[in-house]
Amino acid sequence: MEVIIRSTYEEMSKVGAQIVADVLNTKPNSVIGMATGSTPLGVYAELVRMHREEGLDFSQVTTFNLDEYVGLPTDHPQSYHSFMHEHFFQHVNIPPQNIYIPSGTTSNYNAFCEWYEQRILDAGGIDIQILGIGSDGHIAFNEPMSSLASRTRLKTLARSTIEDNARFFDKIEDVPIYAITMGVGTILEARELLILANGKNKAAAIAGAIEGPVTSMITASALQLHPSVKCCLDADAASELTMIDYYDWVQEKKPGAPRL
Ligand code: F6R
Repeated sequence: MEVIIRSTYEEMSKVGAQIVADVLNTKPNSVIGMATGSTPLGVYAELVRMHREEGLDFSQVTTFNLDEYVGLPTDHPQSYHSFMHEHFFQHVNIPPQNIYIPSGTTSNYNAFCEWYEQRILDAGGIDIQILGIGSDGHIAFNEPMSSLASRTRLKTLARSTIEDNARFFDKIEDVPIYAITMGVGTILEARELLILANGKNKAAAIAGAIEGPVTSMITASALQLHPSVKCCLDADAASELTMIDYYDWVQEKKPGAPRL
């Protein structure tokens, strides 16, 4: 795992966006896994800026979102469909037919989840998956004790996640209790993973995920099993890591490393 620490959210977001842009510049028809929530907003804003000012082209891109709340229609202001449209899709040139977001209103969740997994395979797999992390260490909505081999499925959200996400709703009772989420096993099949975290309230989860044991109690710790992970943090999110000197040393020495 490559751990990249920047002092501010803005700087962290620029690094994250550049990592995604590098994948896209190498492979214009990349398949990108998208996350919602507050964390990736800076990365999306920077990618939109690159699209507008530097011509970063999304016309051949396909996207798959990690998750969606169950029960919210796509046009609900707090649905992840609305979120993605507002913060990213309406600002770039991804063909609408290439955008996949789990359905929160399907009449057959099992069939839908199988279909979603198959669509990812048909698209050739995910080239880079963007991830945030919950304060309980979840990735996507894989709450503690989710199988590290899990696939796309319906999950019950943890109380702490409902409380964390209540800030987006008028009242906590409005936060959906269930979600459709890619599984940890699904996520680990992406060729590259980019996990982002900022703020003190993510510091313990990040320390557990990066430096703790691999455990389904912190599903983000499964990233330790993946050969290509970049972890972009701001200083607050990195504040409980014990190996910061080493991570900074590796970054500093990177330009001089022998070319493969
Ligand atoms: C959202 C998702 C979640 C969030 C996590 C952090 O698609 O998969 O795992 O990344 O809950 O949310 P924020 O960024 O709002 O702190």
